[in-house]
Amino acid sequence: MKISVAGTGYVGLVTAVCLAEKGNIVTCLDIDMGKIALMQKGFSPIFEPKLEELMQKNRDNIVYTSDYIMAYRDADVIIIGVGTPEKKDGSANLKYVFEVAKQIAETVERDCIVIVKSTVPVGTNDKVEQIIKENRKCKVNIEVVSNPEFLSQGTAVQDTLNATRIVLGVESQKAESILKQMYSQFEIPFVITDRRSAEMIKYAANDFLALKISYINEMANLCEIVGANIEDVAKGMGMDPRIGDRFLNAGIGYGGSCFPKDTKALHWLASFNDYELKTVKAAIEVNENQKIKLIKKSKKYFDSFKGLNIAVLGLTFKPGTDDLRDAPSLVNIPLLIEDGANVKAWDPVGMDNFRKIYPDEIKYCNSIEETLIDTDICFIFTEWPEIKNFKLEKFTRLMKNPLVLDGRNCYSLDEAEKRGLIYESIGRRK
Ligand code: UGA
Repeated sequence: MKISVAGTGYVGLVTAVCLAEKGNIVTCLDIDMGKIALMQKGFSPIFEPKLEELMQKNRDNIVYTSDYIMAYRDADVIIIGVGTPEKKDGSANLKYVFEVAKQIAETVERDCIVIVKSTVPVGTNDKVEQIIKENRKCKVNIEVVSNPEFLSQGTAVQDTLNATRIVLGVESQKAESILKQMYSQFEIPFVITDRRSAEMIKYAANDFLALKISYINEMANLCEIVGANIEDVAKGMGMDPRIGDRFLNAGIGYGGSCFPKDTKALHWLASFNDYELKTVKAAIEVNENQKIKLIKKSKKYFDSFKGLNIAVLGLTFKPGTDDLRDAPSLVNIPLLIEDGANVKAWDPVGMDNFRKIYPDEIKYCNSIEETLIDTDICFIFTEWPEIKNFKLEKFTRLMKNPLVLDGRNCYSLDEAEKRGLIYESIGRRK
């Protein structure tokens, strides 16, 4: 089976490499020649644990190219894994998906299956099918299948190889059996449904997880008011298998390339169809407020940040990735700078990307220690292991004023107190 994958971002590249790992021959296509050259040398253009290792291991099974004619012409399966970024109105920008569909239509010379793996609103697969029909050059049969992915950044490879389910939105028996064959080595249960339901599963799942986070964040806010501890509350809730113990970590809100975009896109889709998704709307609002929660807490100690030396630990939207998309750091740091603070920051992998946005406005440090020296406040935005395992006495020793505002509940309250820290976290009893 010849499989081609359009787009070498998280979805496309990880899918391609995992299919190769399971014995398939895969062609990876991207318009970015720089990325192609890098991948041809065996390097990954994205920071993702285990990915580069598998790219090198499966060198002989993967071809990297920017020649779409070569990639599509005689493929059995073409996977669309290009981005669907957010538009100003909150809807998903489908330009890249449709461009690939058009190129496929103009190129393929034999029957094939086109899989839409990008996260797309309900009805997009139908449009892809229509574009292909309208632009087809050869008289071939091209079937469109919805096959969303559920990988998380930082654990993308293992999430793909050991996925909880493979969702196939198919309109024919033939397409179903070809896809089952492609995934035959994965030993993962299938959910077979129609295309629109498959498209909906992806959004419904992501938005439910976002809701779960916003819910626990609101509970955390209430815990602070009424004097309860969110970690014990989450533990007590999570032991009920109907609720489940995952995605109940309170913090300064969700970020990343998916939850913020997918909640807005589903809300937009509902509104477009004259229906208001009230729960999703609330999740979005709660998240926006949660992101500035630490700044609000800091007002207890300082009226303004003017002239203060501030340490920031963690810039990425979560550990295990260098991705900054919708990270709380991007909301908070500009507020600190605008107010006249001197900001120093450290992140194990996110600093290069942050420097591209803020080259001169903040000082980038080589270690947590260097970041903390002589500071008045320390903000923690990402729970990197290096930060969680950092010795608390060093905060007291290095900072001018050991006020630590922790948005990810990295430390125990008792330990922080013992080490003399003025410590604020999320949803925990003081
Ligand atoms: C998310 C989903 O978890 C994946 O299943 C999905 O496939 C992916 O989006 C996608 O659509 O491509 P991802 O954005 O990589 O994956 O990261 P998550 O681990 O879900 O974290 C998202 C955000 O939620 C992070 O900012 C994280 O800090 C936050 N979070 C997560 C919490 O604040 N609390 C939690 O308990 C869990």
